[in-house]
Amino acid sequence: ALVSMRQLLDHAAENGYGIPAFNVNNLEQVQAIMEAAAETDSPVIMQASAGARKYAGEGFLKYLIQAAVESYPHIPVVMHQDHGQSPAICKGAIDLGFSSVMMDGSLKEDGKTIAEYEYNLDVTRRVVEMAHKLGVTVEGELGCLGSLETMKGDKEDGHGAEGTMTIEQLLTDPEQAADFVRQTQLDALAIAIGTSHGAYKFTRKPTGDILSISRIKEIHKRLPNTHLVMHGSSSVPQDLLAEIREFGGDMKETYGVPVEEIQEAIKFGVRKVNIDTDIRLAMTGAIRRYMGENPSKFDPREYLKPAREAAKQICKQRYEQFGTAGNA
Ligand code: G3H
Ligand code: 13P
Ligand code: NA
Ligand code: ZN
Repeated sequence: ALVSMRQLLDHAAENGYGIPAFNVNNLEQVQAIMEAAAETDSPVIMQASAGARKYAGEGFLKYLIQAAVESYPHIPVVMHQDHGQSPAICKGAIDLGFSSVMMDGSLKEDGKTIAEYEYNLDVTRRVVEMAHKLGVTVEGELGCLGSLETMKGDKEDGHGAEGTMTIEQLLTDPEQAADFVRQTQLDALAIAIGTSHGAYKFTRKPTGDILSISRIKEIHKRLPNTHLVMHGSSSVPQDLLAEIREFGGDMKETYGVPVEEIQEAIKFGVRKVNIDTDIRLAMTGAIRRYMGENPSKFDPREYLKPAREAAKQICKQRYEQFGTAGNA
């Protein structure tokens, strides 16, 4: 059944686990997530970015997720708008039937200018007011995703701060977070701790100076009852990079967020963990392998099947690793 995200996050907090939130754009990704959830008895958060809605079309996305809900009636499913860049986008998602929205007021509507605190407060507060009347959950963001190695904003997927950033922008301030939660009354708070979107997060396996789990602990200490959200949380598995390279792909050396760091964060209030890139890598590796090993094949079902299977394996692993399994 379609449920509110608040309900799932409250249960996760009471029982000390995290929930991966997977981005979806097409049929095979939706199926992979649902099969993984069914096999591990996990609740599901599926999220669609503005780019996903543009790629698939709003109607297709809505009914793909609806098909998932109907096909797995015993699994709770949240349909979440990822990175809504304005109250209007959030309103559109709610009208479409989403049970949860993210108002990302850390950046202005252009998706690249860092917003003033007052702007973020204003847009987030407005979305909370609109959404809560309808039983829809709201995620906000304070701080800006970006790299503590380069002091650059998150640019890889087209949205992210321009220019050089300060450490104050790259790491969410616990006192300001407390004020933000109090003034907006949001349900979940996305924080900045040195992660960024996409495959190129870190040039080496991250240590505490470039991936600040200690900042999460400080925020959690100040806000023990607030559900925290980690964006840019793909782990970028080295074996998937190796598979992509083996079958003709060109990917530079890179590192993601280690699963054990996420597991530590889950002990300190992180309840929603956003993952898109790992599914992209898994599907691309499987398709490259299939194409490389079967050059005469041309039926899309034949290469999308292993791609869907590879995505499902990633989802199953994360459901197990984050303690989500068994909680549907
Ligand atoms: O926010 C980042 C997600 O990975 C979505 O990416 O905007 O390319 O759909 P996207
Ligand atoms: P990744 O690019 O690390 O998968 O992050 C996805 C994300 O944060 C979507 O909002
Ligand atoms: Na989100
Ligand atoms: Zn994100």
